[in-house]
Amino acid sequence: MGWAYCDIWFLFWSVSECWQLFNSQPVIRGEVQSPQYPLPYPPNLLKQWDLRVPEGYQIQLSVTHLDIKASLGCHQDSLTVLHDQKVLGKFCGQENSNDHPGKEPILSQGNSLTLIFQTNDSTAELQQHIGFAAIYKAVDVDECSKQDPGSGPLCSQICVNTPGSYHCSCHYGYKLHLDQHTCLFSCGGCIFDKHEGRLSSPGYPDPSPPFLSCKYIISVEPRLTVTLNFTDSFHIESVDAQQGPRCLHHWLQVTIPDREPMKLCGGKSPGLIATNSSIVRLDYHTNNEGLSHGWSLHYSTKAIDCGEPKPLLNGGMTFLSGLQNQNRSVVQYHCNEPFYSFSQGTNVRFTCEADGKWRSNHTDVPPTCIPVCGKPTKLISAYQRTVGSIEGRDNTIPWHVLLSVDGQRAGGMVIADRWIMTAAHVLTYNGNPVLEEDVRIYLGVVDVKTLFGSPALAASIHIHPEYNNPSGLDFNNDIALIKLQEPITFNSSIMPICLPAEGTTYTAGKIGLVSGFSLTEAGKRRILANKMKYVHLLVVEQETCSSSLDKLKKRRDNDNLPSLTNNMFCAGVPDGGKDSCHGDSGSPLALRDDGRFWAAGIVSWGVDCGQPGTYGIYTRVTTYLDWIKKTMKEN
Ligand code: ARG
Repeated sequence: MGWAYCDIWFLFWSVSECWQLFNSQPVIRGEVQSPQYPLPYPPNLLKQWDLRVPEGYQIQLSVTHLDIKASLGCHQDSLTVLHDQKVLGKFCGQENSNDHPGKEPILSQGNSLTLIFQTNDSTAELQQHIGFAAIYKAVDVDECSKQDPGSGPLCSQICVNTPGSYHCSCHYGYKLHLDQHTCLFSCGGCIFDKHEGRLSSPGYPDPSPPFLSCKYIISVEPRLTVTLNFTDSFHIESVDAQQGPRCLHHWLQVTIPDREPMKLCGGKSPGLIATNSSIVRLDYHTNNEGLSHGWSLHYSTKAIDCGEPKPLLNGGMTFLSGLQNQNRSVVQYHCNEPFYSFSQGTNVRFTCEADGKWRSNHTDVPPTCIPVCGKPTKLISAYQRTVGSIEGRDNTIPWHVLLSVDGQRAGGMVIADRWIMTAAHVLTYNGNPVLEEDVRIYLGVVDVKTLFGSPALAASIHIHPEYNNPSGLDFNNDIALIKLQEPITFNSSIMPICLPAEGTTYTAGKIGLVSGFSLTEAGKRRILANKMKYVHLLVVEQETCSSSLDKLKKRRDNDNLPSLTNNMFCAGVPDGGKDSCHGDSGSPLALRDDGRFWAAGIVSWGVDCGQPGTYGIYTRVTTYLDWIKKTMKEN
């Protein structure tokens, strides 16, 4: 648009220049004479001449000779000069007579003039008056000297008269407004892209001219931020109000992208303004009310460096844009999938902001990668379900933990990067917790023969406070937690199992997955399995389980059996043959909902193993959700 406008402007001026060249010496001139001049004019005449010169010119008429029969008011014979039906003069008589226009030429108001020569009947008798001769020429109108009282001067500053026309021009430092009439102070309008610079009001230190509308833009590389430093001599006309000076007629507005613009005025220098932006726009406005002494500032820039973004544990980051660590650089975090993920709604994109900090939606705290629970990278295939205990497969039960407590084999499960859950009876001896150093924790192990490296070490042992089983007959609250000395980094062979969701229930008939390194019946021999085994067992109705225990008591005539409480549940198969067994204590019974395995039970106790009509008894983990969370939080 700007260019188009400039082209038209140029065209306009070149045309008018050309016109000026050819017409600088207007040749429009002519003569008018009465009929038969220089012989006496005939009677009963009415002759009219309509003279016309180009627009922008006037007609200057000089009567060179006049000899018309004189009469009072020239009512007989006359020469009348009119412009636009207005009589400029009516002449008769001779040169030097009263009705003679004299030496003064007649000037038309516009570019036309009418002459009417009229003679009377009474001159029928021979007469000697020869009439008139006149010359006319076009003279340029000096538009500049004309003052229209209604609309003020034609030009706000300089009026240049040209033949047939005029144009306006401005003093140095001003430019002509689009209206071709007003001169505006030419100020601002340019972009400051240097690393530092000086800016001041037009004419500074002289007072600012009225009617200013100056725009200054400071725009430096995005990695830099601009600081404005106003000098002490600052004065912009303001109106005193209760809340301080109000910028009514004059102001300097500072605009920073995405922020409320601020208007400056008054007599006090704003001093330093750190804009924290690489782009700043200044708009200086004055009108003809009041007077501003002006302002001056020096701007400087400084580079922003946010430094390396904080590393993300179990994740990483990618730079999306910008130079590394500099202003407006964007970094995106990611977690090591599929073992870690962000919780929903986490800000993962951080921008290096002007204050030198990596931020995302007002936070400068990097996100955290949360371990993914209950989603092994490999699933036990469906057809293997019906089989009894079989060898475990790699990575299908990555939460299973092999424990060795004082030489005794037991199981457990990973529930967080520092936490193992197991049965309380595994970690107590004679009613007291075992020593941390007596516990060996093997993670990600499927074959005892391949135990390599050192076991994970226990930092602390947390037995449920209400577990109290001095004589081995009370397995109520058979749950315990081990805190590890070092957090685990998860991979496909070590992953946590989910804790039960709030309000989860156990439904009889659901299939649980129990894993362990327990005793195997091999013919008549009972041997400890070297390879991890698993078995799928049904969750059993509480009543079915308690009546099976009652039958056992009667049959064995034995009252010395632990009792079943609601903090326990049973699992197994009515026909027997599938069960957990000695050495499995503390091992997980996992249920699967919505594609995730969760810790439903902990192998606790049973009467023999796998006998028809009997079931294994498991700690009901949902009961202890609050205690588990509290213990993990407080330790
Ligand atoms: N308390 C046993 C142990 O120390 C676990 C027994 C599980 N028995 C069963 N039949 N499910 O390993």
